[in-house]
Amino acid sequence: VPSFTFAAGALAVRRCGFRPEFVDISLDTWQPDLADAHELLSRAGGIGGILLTSTFGVGNPEIDRWENLANEHGIPLIVDSAAGFGSTYAWGEPLGLRGACEIFSLHATKAMGIGEGGILVSRDPEIVATVDQLKNFGFDAERRAVYAGTNAKLTELAAAIGRRQLRTLPVRLQKRRRVVEMYAERLEPLGVQFQTGVRQSAPPFVSALMPTAESRDALVGALQTAGVETRVYYNPPVHRHPIFEASDGSRSLPNTDVIAARIISLPMGDELEPSVIDLVAGIAEKVIRG
Ligand SMILES: Cc1ncc(COP(=O)(O)O)c(C=O)c1O
Repeated sequence: VPSFTFAAGALAVRRCGFRPEFVDISLDTWQPDLADAHELLSRAGGIGGILLTSTFGVGNPEIDRWENLANEHGIPLIVDSAAGFGSTYAWGEPLGLRGACEIFSLHATKAMGIGEGGILVSRDPEIVATVDQLKNFGFDAERRAVYAGTNAKLTELAAAIGRRQLRTLPVRLQKRRRVVEMYAERLEPLGVQFQTGVRQSAPPFVSALMPTAESRDALVGALQTAGVETRVYYNPPVHRHPIFEASDGSRSLPNTDVIAARIISLPMGDELEPSVIDLVAGIAEKVIRG
């Protein structure tokens, strides 16, 4: 499990009775680092599966090699593409067809957001059938509980909103990608970096890597003073959340710590006013240039 992600994945792993072993990320892509996972799998026994994330909904450029790694070790690859509904890999393939299964979030913060809920996609009919039962109290066709299921059904109302949203998604994704472009045009010359692949994704917010941890903290403060709300996904990284800190204090994740200290999540929206980008860029310029 990568640590540079939302806590939900590692929490789910834990609820399933496993202890997450955290892997570092690549400094270039902010995606889980394949070499680190190789190292972990060759050293640690008893690993039950790989939970790979598509960081910020961007497809993992090494997805083939992750699938091979899971196959080599005979363990499932589960892909958490929470923010990736509508994203494509660099070669044009839509996210959603990889690993044993892939999961999208439909939380209100996503480009495809219907409030709450999600989608699990799998090419394995057995997984689909089992999850179908798990989300409906673990009932089989005769409505007898055969698994410790729960009520995790999408509501009809949310599904109706989702169907409507699907119609406008392509246009809204274009608008969101344009917002990223506009931020990049203003901020890249200041040394701010954007994620590789973000231009083929469905950005829920705009992740920007500031030149230093100090400039990130200063920008968060300056934007707050100006009335602009930001977040710092994913800081703290998951291995530094209290529930996991004690169990995995031993593994060092230097790249995760570096990126978490410098990342900022800037405002995004289908109809984000260019004046907001202007305001943010102006403040960033003052913070970085001093
Ligand atoms: C990577 C990742 N995994 C899981 C989740 C949880 O999704 P949900 O809020 O739909 O439960 C999120 C939420 O943003 C996420 O970013």
